[in-house]
Amino acid sequence: MKILITGSQGQLGTELNQILTGAYPAGTVVTTDIDSLDLTDAKAVKNFISAGDFSHIINCAAYTAVDKAEIEKSQCTAINVDAVSNLAGAAADISAKLIHISTDFVFDGNQNVPYKESDKTAPLSMYGATKRRSETVALGLNPDTIVIRTGWLYSPHGSNFVKTILRLATKDESIGVVYDQIGTPTYARDLANMIATIIAAPQWLSGIYNYSNEGVASWYDFARAIIDIRGLNTMVKPLLTNEYPTQAKRPAYSVLDKNKIKATYQIEIPYWRDSLAECLKLMD
Ligand SMILES: NC(=O)c1ccc[n+]([C@@H]2O[C@H](COP(=O)([O-])OP(=O)(O)OC[C@H]3O[C@@H](n4cnc5c(N)ncnc54)[C@H](OP(=O)(O)O)[C@@H]3O)[C@@H](O)[C@H]2O)c1
Repeated sequence: MKILITGSQGQLGTELNQILTGAYPAGTVVTTDIDSLDLTDAKAVKNFISAGDFSHIINCAAYTAVDKAEIEKSQCTAINVDAVSNLAGAAADISAKLIHISTDFVFDGNQNVPYKESDKTAPLSMYGATKRRSETVALGLNPDTIVIRTGWLYSPHGSNFVKTILRLATKDESIGVVYDQIGTPTYARDLANMIATIIAAPQWLSGIYNYSNEGVASWYDFARAIIDIRGLNTMVKPLLTNEYPTQAKRPAYSVLDKNKIKATYQIEIPYWRDSLAECLKLMD
């Protein structure tokens, strides 16, 4: 077994690297990020992968700046679609299994029951649209692909909602957060553990799977939980989406139905507030 993690310096890549290097013998896990392998460079990707003899490739790289993507459309497409095409094609050439990460933002949020993998996609944003295209490209070019849709990812690394709220809460007496967008936070460490479970599983079942933590929250609830667990006194004011305009449209409801991944891999998923508390302990 030889595993390549791309985007290894991002939130998920960092967690996954820690877990897999702890689980497998030295030399099994190889990591790259944009400084060592720019995935938009088709030739470099082909050369690197064909020389690598990888059994598994986990793509944690992406363009994740959801609002900026509305302006930087070509950069977003290059990283979220073209790079995935380069990677999936090169993986197929060496018969490597590919795990690619996608998002709950592939949905329009008009449902009021959790989204199944088979539900109709209708992304509202450039980011969501490119991630949806990446799913089709990855599955089309490499039949041995598992796509995991996740949402509201956070960790002690990089930039994310938890870090933003902690920063604002320590300098402002009151902050406003939207309460009419509903989803589920996902601790990147839990998702990384899920990926490790998939790699170690006796059989490989390609296709799309949903994964987030358990439970449901609005961004307001998420912010309140961060502040409460940290014991801060900052007031959180609930806002409507139209009171907090952003460049990119986001789904009002993007809760994911996780029954497929739970049944396939016989796993239990941690409740989002428990995982948040665990992550915050590491951020003291
Ligand atoms: N963050 C979320 O809330 C969220 C929600 C749902 C799904 N996801 C998906 O989950 C996955 C992991 O997200 P994340 O939050 O861990 O992402 P992240 O922290 O933004 O990390 C992405 C990594 O990819 C690297 N990268 C960017 N362009 C690249 C290129 N051309 N070649 C190689 N590497 C490149 C980035 O480098 P730079 O930092 O230098 O650009 C960064 O290290 C992504 O597929 C994302 O779309 C994320």
